Amino acid sequence: MRDSILTILKNNRDSYVSGQTISEGLGVSRSAVWKYINKLKEEGYVIDSLSNNGYKMISAPDLLTMEEIKDYLDTRNIGSQILHFNSIDSTNSKAKELAVAGASHGTVVISEEQTSGRGRFGRQWSSPKHKGIWMSVILRPDIDPVNASNITLLGSAAVFEAMKAMGVSPGIKWPNDIILKGRKLCGILTEMSSELNQINYLIMGIGVNVNTSQGEFPEELKNIATSLKSSEGHDYSRQELTGLILSHFERFYDKFIKENDMKSAIEISRKHSVLLGKEIQIFNKGVPVGAKAIDINDQGLLVIEHPDGKMESIISGEVSMNGLFGYSKMDDAKL
Ligand code: BTN
Repeated sequence: MRDSILTILKNNRDSYVSGQTISEGLGVSRSAVWKYINKLKEEGYVIDSLSNNGYKMISAPDLLTMEEIKDYLDTRNIGSQILHFNSIDSTNSKAKELAVAGASHGTVVISEEQTSGRGRFGRQWSSPKHKGIWMSVILRPDIDPVNASNITLLGSAAVFEAMKAMGVSPGIKWPNDIILKGRKLCGILTEMSSELNQINYLIMGIGVNVNTSQGEFPEELKNIATSLKSSEGHDYSRQELTGLILSHFERFYDKFIKENDMKSAIEISRKHSVLLGKEIQIFNKGVPVGAKAIDINDQGLLVIEHPDGKMESIISGEVSMNGLFGYSKMDDAKL
């Protein structure tokens, strides 16, 4: 009932709809309508009520609920279920719990804030309330577990495309970071449960700093992280960006799973790479090794050249890496 009333109000944003019309249309009493309207107001919807005219929605809350995202979502499976939380420890942890309990492929967990957001290599991920997109997608790909790291690459290509659609042109730090003006805008943490030759589930967690002010980042991130707002000078719609990311992701994912085709995602990662042609450091079992980033090959691996001229292709997950582009090695290590 709540959802039906919301839909009526949303479809009539320019006019007042009388309580009578709603109650007759939905077959409930006018006092029930009034009760649901009050509930929506409590949730943050601003609804004007005029005694002779009825109700008119003035604005919707800036929340990442299915209700608010669906207008921007163009997918069949990804996001067919969206579980929304106001606060949670980590959407990746919640998604894992749900995946173990049998949640279906494409289920998305989103929270307005994370109290213990997790980054790669055991780092924390700052996730302040209503400031970013903190979400995890449950995937059940029928692929060899050795190819699972490609999903991260598809994720970063999807984030890139979504940013582009919003008028922003970031860089990609293979395979999982999105960089804007030399600072980190978005990170992806992919976690997997698998048997030797079969994936049980894969969780792709995406964190995007959207409307965080620079001063709101924790001290240690102030010089190395950025948000869309901080970089571009104005707020962005988290709802639209969320829908765009998931929609682009499904497109890349389907092409990969159905046709084993990652060409366009790899092309994006190459073309907008902040690493290629640069001297980088790779961490091999914790030991930093200098090398030059040469290419991202057709399998999505990073091709590097060692100082002795030897070429190597590396898979994400086997190594961590420090890029040298605008922020120092030490700072990057904390990202
Ligand atoms: C990284 O760059 O280190 C990866 C950061 C991933 C952060 C996201 S936010 C949503 C999801 N839940 C988490 O706890 N982490 C990921």
